[in-house]
Amino acid sequence: MSHFKSVSPLVWIRFTFVLLALTGFGWMASAISDDAPKESPHKPQYSSDGELLVPKDYRSWIYVGTNLSTVYKKDLPGGAVSREIEETQPGSFHQIYINPEAYRTYLETQKFPESTMLIMEVYSAGTKDPKGFLSAGKFEEKRVGFEMAVKDSRRPGGGVPWAYYDFKLDAKLRPSGTAKAKPDGKCYDCHLKHAGDDNVWVQFYPVLRDRD
Ligand code: HEC
Repeated sequence: MSHFKSVSPLVWIRFTFVLLALTGFGWMASAISDDAPKESPHKPQYSSDGELLVPKDYRSWIYVGTNLSTVYKKDLPGGAVSREIEETQPGSFHQIYINPEAYRTYLETQKFPESTMLIMEVYSAGTKDPKGFLSAGKFEEKRVGFEMAVKDSRRPGGGVPWAYYDFKLDAKLRPSGTAKAKPDGKCYDCHLKHAGDDNVWVQFYPVLRDRD
């Protein structure tokens, strides 16, 4: 009789039980550690009547660049509509953010995925600070605009995947309320025809353009 056969059935049952328990714990531990580092993905949020809401945490997104006093040509090749922007001196800063998931996907694949959101915050350029410390230069003084570009092929109301939104500012100059998608002729057409990659002006954003 071999040593193996001498093990009682009870011992085998206990052994199998311990093995199953260990496998179970192992699976649970790996499930927990898989979930732990993931952040909740950012998706565009809409009101019940299909208007876009301002994402709350956008200032912790990836900041891709700032453009100073960009004014767009009226006579554009390709027939895109021009955008009337009143640029007053000393001008304004456009600072652009992208949600982190879209940033990572763009770096890996050079494609903007569904639910890509870009925010353009516009600040007037100030030259006189409250303490009169500056003798030259410009700083970001007051928020004067807050616009968004969102890639969502299932957005309420349907249409082309990219939609553009212009939010109103409240008395404290914070973007407020909800915004309706602008007609394509007002925003989408120019972005489609002249922006560097998939409607986004990557040519002006060093973090997406240079990817170093
Ligand atoms: C005539 C061309 C033109 C039109 C029309 C236009 N834009 Fe843009 N847009 C630009 C350019 C150029 C930039 C990047 C440079 C900059 O900072 O101004 C830009 C950047 C943006 C960005 C930053 C993200 C991105 O897509 O690169 C947003 C958001 C945006 N525009 C919203 C709008 C909205 C909202 C409208 C319509 C109300 C609009 N745009 C109409 C030319 C245009």
